[in-house]
Parts: sequence; C-alpha cells; structure tokens
Amino acid sequence: MTPDDIGTRSARVSVNSYYGYAGLPPLAGLETMQEACTTGLSVSESVNRLKRLHWSLKRLRRIFVSRITSMPIYELKMAFSLHAHYCVEHVGEFAARVKEMRQPPHGLNVTPHASLDLFFDEILCAPDTEALLLGLYEYAVPAVIRALERMMADTNKLFDHPSWRICRLTLVEVQDVCQYGTEAIRCLVNDEKRAGLKQWLDILSRMLAAAGDLDGKLEPSGENIGRHFSQVPYTYDPVPARDQRFQDPYNMGVNAEAMLFNPEIAPLPKTIMLYFKRMREIDVPEMMASMIAENPDKSWEYDRDMTRQLWDEARHAMMGEIGFVHLEIDWTEIPFNFTWSLGLNTKLSAKERHAVLYTIEQGLMPKSTGKEYEWEVALATADPLTAMIQDYDWADEVLHAKIGRRWIVPEIGTQAETMAYGDVAWTKILVDWKQWKDDGLTEHRNWWPEVYRAACRHWKIEPDSQILKYNVSYENSRADMKEIAG
Ligand SMILES: [Fe+2]
Ligand SMILES: [Fe+2]
Repeated sequence: MTPDDIGTRSARVSVNSYYGYAGLPPLAGLETMQEACTTGLSVSESVNRLKRLHWSLKRLRRIFVSRITSMPIYELKMAFSLHAHYCVEHVGEFAARVKEMRQPPHGLNVTPHASLDLFFDEILCAPDTEALLLGLYEYAVPAVIRALERMMADTNKLFDHPSWRICRLTLVEVQDVCQYGTEAIRCLVNDEKRAGLKQWLDILSRMLAAAGDLDGKLEPSGENIGRHFSQVPYTYDPVPARDQRFQDPYNMGVNAEAMLFNPEIAPLPKTIMLYFKRMREIDVPEMMASMIAENPDKSWEYDRDMTRQLWDEARHAMMGEIGFVHLEIDWTEIPFNFTWSLGLNTKLSAKERHAVLYTIEQGLMPKSTGKEYEWEVALATADPLTAMIQDYDWADEVLHAKIGRRWIVPEIGTQAETMAYGDVAWTKILVDWKQWKDDGLTEHRNWWPEVYRAACRHWKIEPDSQILKYNVSYENSRADMKEIAG
C-alpha cells in the first residue's frame, strides 16, 4: 500500500492505530479513537460539575462586585471590575449548557454543597485587603482552575464537546485572573500578614475538602467546620474608599465643562479636561457596584448587562489614567471628586441611583453637548490617543443608553418619566460648593495652572497666559448632571 492509499479503501479496526481517509486525523481532530473509547463522564456527572462551576463563578462575581466600592486601592478596584465581568459572562454559558442537557427544574439557584457556600461566605467577609486577596486568588480562583482542568480531562471531548469547549474558553480568562491575583499578593501581602491569617486559610482549605473540592470530584471529608469571619453576616459597605494617592476628594475647584464648551478656547488645553473627566469616572463603578450588590435577586441578564457597564466605566477611568501618563502628568496632583458616588450610594435607593445614571447618560447623547462633541474636540487636538479615548468612550455610551432603556425605564414607566424621576432623585443629594468649604472638607484649590504647565512642558510649548489664568470652579454652576459624564 502506498502512503496515498492509507485509509482510502477501508477503515482500520484497531483502536490504537486508527486513522482517517488518507491518514487524516479522525473525529474532527478532537481526540484519538483510543481517547474517545475510554474517557468520559455520564451526563449526570457532567451536569453536576457544570452546576458547581456555575455556582462558584456566580459567588465569585458577587464578591468582586461587592468589594469594589470600599476597596481603597485603585488598581484593585479596576481589576475587580474586570474579574467580575469575566465571571458573569461564563456564569451564563454554564447555565445555558446545563439547560441544554436537562429538563427543568435545573436547580441553578440552589447551592450544590453547604460547605462550598461557607467557603465563599468566608471570602466575602474577609476583613481586609490582604485576607481578601489570599482568599480570592490563592484559594477560590485556583479551585476554579482545578475544576475546569479536571472537567476537560475527564469528560469526553466529542460526546460532551459543548461543555469541554466552555471550560476551555473559560480557563483562558480565569488563568489571567489568577495571574493578576498572584502578582497582587506578591505586591501587597507580606509573610507576617500571611502567617497571621494561617488559621483562617487552613479553614478555607478544610471547607473545600468538606465539599469534595469545588467540583465535587474528591470524596467529601465530611468535616463540620464553623464559620470564622462570616460569623457576622456580610453587609455591603456603600462608602467609596480611595487610596492615599487620591487627595482632596471634595474639591470642585476646576470646572472641566466650562472650559470644554467654551468655543473661545483652543482644543489642545482641553485635552487635560477630557482626561480629567475620564479618570473622574472611578466613581461610576463605585456607584454601579452598589446597585448590583443591593439587587441580589435580579436575573442573570440584568447582572450581565450591569456588570459589563461597570467594567466599561472602569475602562473609561483607566483611559484617563493612560492619557495623563502619556502627557507625563502626575495625576496624583489632581483631585478626583468622589462626592457623586458617596451621595448616591448613601442617600438614594438603588432604583433612584439607576435613574440618575440613566438621566445623565441620556444627557450625553445630544450632538452639541455630549459624547460626539467631546470626540470632535479630541480630533481637533490632533493627538491620536485622545481621539481614540473619546471614540471608544462614545461607542460605549451607545451601549449604556441601551442598557438603561432595557432595565430602568420599564421599572419606572416611560423614558420621560424615568428622566424626571432621576432629576428629582438627583436634587435630593445636592450639597453645595460653599457648604463643603465651610465644613472644612476642602479649599476647592485651583489645580489647573500647575497641571497645564506640566502638559505644556510635554508639548514643548510656552503656556498661554490667558489659559494659565483659567479659574472657573463649580461654585456658580451647580454641579449637576450635565457636568458628570457617566
Ligand atoms: Fe463612562
Ligand atoms: Fe457610561
């Protein structure tokens, strides 16, 4: 037989050396005939593992979201936003696969094992950043990775291909999450702190063992383990925290919009205001996290949309950060006001907060004052990075308006009623510029001149004396919604 004749006339019957026509890989290249004949989980076993992964990713997403607002470290706020987004996307895929294989009831809202829930409760209640990082990234996330890898090794790639594929794609992102977490622990958790948490970390291991590991593949230890940090039930902390690089959080000393919308001012200095407005958006994930955390019984579709928007808003903040670094400006010299998320989170209901967000976002749609205008200013600066920032910021806003129309408008009534409701809610939290000053919370320092000078050094131009004198605060212009870009 010539090589060309291999498998062209008949099929080999040996499992060990089976091949396809002309030597082609059989079974669409997924696995060998040997593997196809010998590996596999039953549908019931596969469904059980998928349900555990579904539940675990759901719990993990909730922890990430719930800890965004009160997490002082900016980088972790941003990372938690991304990690929550990854988790919720995969939650949907696992649920859909279970529904493909089984008739209802699917039991997707029921905990697969009490110890698994204890395990996640403990991490949710972790008392500080170090414990939270260790619980998340040294225990929970690696347990998800183990479960995904074992599922991929144990199930039959052909028979259960849809499950195998979901696990494989999920693994790519969960490994990224783990890698970031490992790096975060290296930067933030010292040996002493770790040693102090040894007893609790041991409890986490034992809770997983009691559940037969996250995927239930191992024999459950059967141990009854008491609660540690979760003895006091978790309550969401709505007060936004920032790390020490963020100073003067009540400062309303520089009115970004008054410059942006002033046709007398050339585009280039407006670059700084665009970056400022983007980075100030740290407060949007801080606020959105509160809405999601306080609405635990909404549908997966709601969770998915809201978490996606939350992540987009975190991206917008980081786009501002990128801009400042690109201009060689030390952004820690700029006060990023946090009173919007503080006021909304502590004084309004979740429904009111969502309506305020919606009303703001509708205000960003008009051509002359909204996202399109910001993009035109960015184009006029002739800086490709600034243009790209505003281009994507505008694109994201299109999706956000759609998300608002999908979730908050039907809850309130018509679009006009929702906006009126949002407007009334907003007036409830207005605190005036002067009061913050009188209360000694801020001096409303004008940070513009030194930041503009730093930008001019980067641009290698002399500061314009008129622009340098810019000194418009929010004192006489109510810090209202038109001046907050969601
Ligand atoms: Fe935004
Ligand atoms: Fe937005």
